Amino acid sequence: MRTIVLMNQKGGVGKTTTSVNVAAGLARQGQRVCLFDLDPQGHASLHVGVEAFGDALSVYDVFIGEAKLSEVRRLASDNLWAVPANVDLAAAELELADAPNRELILRNAIAELQATDPFDVIIMDCPPSLSVLTINALSAADEVMIPLQPHFLALQGLSKLLETTALVTRRLNPKLRVTGIMMCMFDAGTRLAADVMDDLTMFLEASEPEAPWADAKIFETRIRRNIKLAEAPSFGVSIFDYAAKSNGSEDYGLLVAEILAMDQRLSAAA
Ligand SMILES: Nc1ncnc2c1ncn2[C@@H]1O[C@H](COP(=O)(O)OP(=O)(O)OP(=O)(O)O)[C@@H](O)[C@H]1O
Ligand SMILES: [Mg+2]
Repeated sequence: MRTIVLMNQKGGVGKTTTSVNVAAGLARQGQRVCLFDLDPQGHASLHVGVEAFGDALSVYDVFIGEAKLSEVRRLASDNLWAVPANVDLAAAELELADAPNRELILRNAIAELQATDPFDVIIMDCPPSLSVLTINALSAADEVMIPLQPHFLALQGLSKLLETTALVTRRLNPKLRVTGIMMCMFDAGTRLAADVMDDLTMFLEASEPEAPWADAKIFETRIRRNIKLAEAPSFGVSIFDYAAKSNGSEDYGLLVAEILAMDQRLSAAA
């Protein structure tokens, strides 16, 4: 099983769009995928058409120990399950303040899920913060992938994010590695995008070999800005079902192929 967390504490960089479309793309390639919405905004749930209204169970019930993931996950489309979130999750941070091992709730819940109901890939969509929810995701995952928008401030938050990853690697989850960085909302041909790419490449090359991000891949596929990607969520379907011939569908299809190829590389090395 691969467990991948998509994180960036900066808002609006493409975390949810990437989580949903990568999860859907992997499911179309025959992988059994479970998408976790860990954001009280619930956008990933909306995007795959699995919202938790009213009394419906959500990931919040897992965090407070009232439900198991196998009771909360729902089928969104062929091969794709989703664990929905809603605004209740915003309270989890406070409610868990004194809970023992509160950083490990999700890891334990996933271990239980895998024992009864195994998935090939788990994708976790995080909120734009380094909250206890994000720490839970990092404690439970093997891989961190970082969506970046090629903005002149894009790299500013990156060091904080990488420090947090390193802290979790030391204290809670030694297996955790940053495996990929993807450019989202890319405007090809702009000087700025090229500069950000150069800075990022230099930054990774200059990092200590033992840093958990030392081997991170900058994906060759850049996700171009495409209005269809912004429209799809309100129809509750992925870009592949909403606009199969769009640039967005092409880009996420290529990104999924890269993510699958690195899996083969990882298993060849093991
Ligand atoms: N490549 C793209 N082209 C056009 N619009 C996009 C693209 N990627 C994302 N968007 C739109 O940009 C907005 C922000 O994207 P998204 O919700 O994926 O970011 P996020 O990082 O998850 O945000 P948040 O931090 O609030 O969770 C959304 O309205 C989304 O539909
Ligand atoms: Mg989001």
